[in-house]
Amino acid sequence: WPVHADHIAAINQLKKSRNAVILAHNYQTPEIFHCVADITGDSLALAQRAVDTDADVIVLAGVHFMAETAKLLNPGKTVLMPDLNAGCSLADSITAADVRKLREQYPGVPVVTYVNTSAEVKAECDICCTSGNAVAIVESLGSDKVIFVPDEYLAAYVAEHTDVEIISWKGHCEVHERFTAAEIDSFREGHAGLKVIAHPECPPDVLASADFVGSTAQMQDYVVNERPDKVLMLTECSMSDNVSISVEDVEFIRPCNLCPHMKRITLANIQQSLETLTPAVEIDESVAIRARAAVERMLAVGR
Ligand code: 13P
Ligand code: SF4
Repeated sequence: WPVHADHIAAINQLKKSRNAVILAHNYQTPEIFHCVADITGDSLALAQRAVDTDADVIVLAGVHFMAETAKLLNPGKTVLMPDLNAGCSLADSITAADVRKLREQYPGVPVVTYVNTSAEVKAECDICCTSGNAVAIVESLGSDKVIFVPDEYLAAYVAEHTDVEIISWKGHCEVHERFTAAEIDSFREGHAGLKVIAHPECPPDVLASADFVGSTAQMQDYVVNERPDKVLMLTECSMSDNVSISVEDVEFIRPCNLCPHMKRITLANIQQSLETLTPAVEIDESVAIRARAAVERMLAVGR
């Protein structure tokens, strides 16, 4: 903890001298989330809040696609990613060439991409979505058929909640695909009255067994508003740590699936990034112009 305190003091000082803000995803560890972050939330909130910051420097405490999204929306600002290797199994599951092939296979069918993709992939798609607005985005297109990439399970969840025909891809989140319905059953047996809330990146049988399904922000709202006696959050480990601080009357049952990519971000590399103003995220303008349009179309539809 004294080491953390030194980093926290240094980072908060550097934020002032660099005119920097730190955007932190809900999966960041509590010392980042609660002690140095200026803006926290789900992927959609981070994208929305990145638009209106007047800081010169944005530090993205999250994964690479989130930093790219912030850069797309703030081309004139320095966007720092404390560890460029913080990737995502979903973003790695599809390439721009894959999307071009899908378009050839299904001519005229619009393509929605989950925000968990590279800027190159976004540039080939019509519009982005997040787990918080996926159904609304699909329905905003006014098409009876939509290609939805790359998360197969989020696509299945959307298909269940709309009449639009969904053509999906086989990408999975390496964290959420590990949860099982059998695991939920055994937790329910051991904890009477347990509420199970799940992220839509979980497999369909897991979502079918859950009491509530939503993005990380929607999961947090559920716990804060409903105040269940006991809750099991089927998502990345740090969520329960971060939410539990504000709801002391709720008991959190914690199966722990860590995202190794999110966990690459530390107080130490945030500090180093602010000291050196590296590594900065750059996106080729020929890609950025098209990827930005896909993100801006999403933001125009809203949550
Ligand atoms: P949300 O915070 O948008 O629900 O996304 C979850 C996730 O896995 C981000 O990597
Ligand atoms: Fe990607 Fe899953 Fe990690 Fe989110 S939790 S960054 S979707 S691998």
